[in-house]
Amino acid sequence: MKDLISITDLSIEELQELIIKAEDIIENPDKYCDKCKRKKLATLFFEPSTRTRLSFEAAMLELGGNVIGFSEASSSSASKGESVADTAQTISCYADIIAMRHPKEGAPLVAAKAASIPVINAGDGGHNHPTQTLTDLLTIFREKGRLNNLKIGFCGDLKFGRTVHSLITAMSRYEGNSFVLISPEELRIPGYIKKDVLERNGLPYKETDNWNDMPELDILYMTRVQRERFFNEADYLRLRDVFILTMDKLAIAKQDLCIMHPLPRVNEIERAVDDDKRACYFKQVLNGKYIRMALILKLLGID
Ligand code: NCD
Repeated sequence: MKDLISITDLSIEELQELIIKAEDIIENPDKYCDKCKRKKLATLFFEPSTRTRLSFEAAMLELGGNVIGFSEASSSSASKGESVADTAQTISCYADIIAMRHPKEGAPLVAAKAASIPVINAGDGGHNHPTQTLTDLLTIFREKGRLNNLKIGFCGDLKFGRTVHSLITAMSRYEGNSFVLISPEELRIPGYIKKDVLERNGLPYKETDNWNDMPELDILYMTRVQRERFFNEADYLRLRDVFILTMDKLAIAKQDLCIMHPLPRVNEIERAVDDDKRACYFKQVLNGKYIRMALILKLLGID
């Protein structure tokens, strides 16, 4: 495997290897501090980001490597009309590995075909976000001790939320998982995820517009409504506050519920929830750095 474009590029065994590697990095950081000496990561971000870009950069720095890149399309030659393929071919002359985020679905795949170095999809439009999924899998594994036999609620913008698409795809590969998809009707998950992922694998799932299943959930994955992917502001304003997680709603939830969110949060989780021991979203942030360290090592072929 040269690139990571979709979470299905990794086998179940490879996912497990990455989780084990990330845990080893957490336990023994010193062992890894020079592993990427003289290597360069290029972060090519054509869309805003805080966690993904900075966790990639922190990951490479903690491995002893260096970082180059840009954080907005307007400061790259894309603004002059350069193609993604030409940019990727160019960066291959300067760096050893690329992490790319782009508003267009499929752009990192185009880059991967043109680049001679590994390309990691750091989010492509409303499509996929495999490294957030690695972060989520590590978090679920550390919190729950397993990736199977879980009832997972996804709540919010399931239509445009790329982290949801990638995580459902990943969790559908483990036995005994079931899904409760909580959203307004207009923000339901895309048909291809329903058909090609959930139905094809015969997975139990339910679409709903209420919180009634809360008491049965092992994981609740909250998401923000993706304003930048709406065609009109009025629809965004109408839909953004439909699902807000409050302490009141959590009163009937399991004591060991794991509350996740890829972040950024807008207002879909009230601040009071942050102090509840079930809130795991800032643990996710930290896990993201470690699993990206493991991924960089894997793609560079470093042990
Ligand atoms: C997510 C993304 O960019 O898709 N953020 C992230 O990478 N952690 C979620 C979001 O923007 O809502």
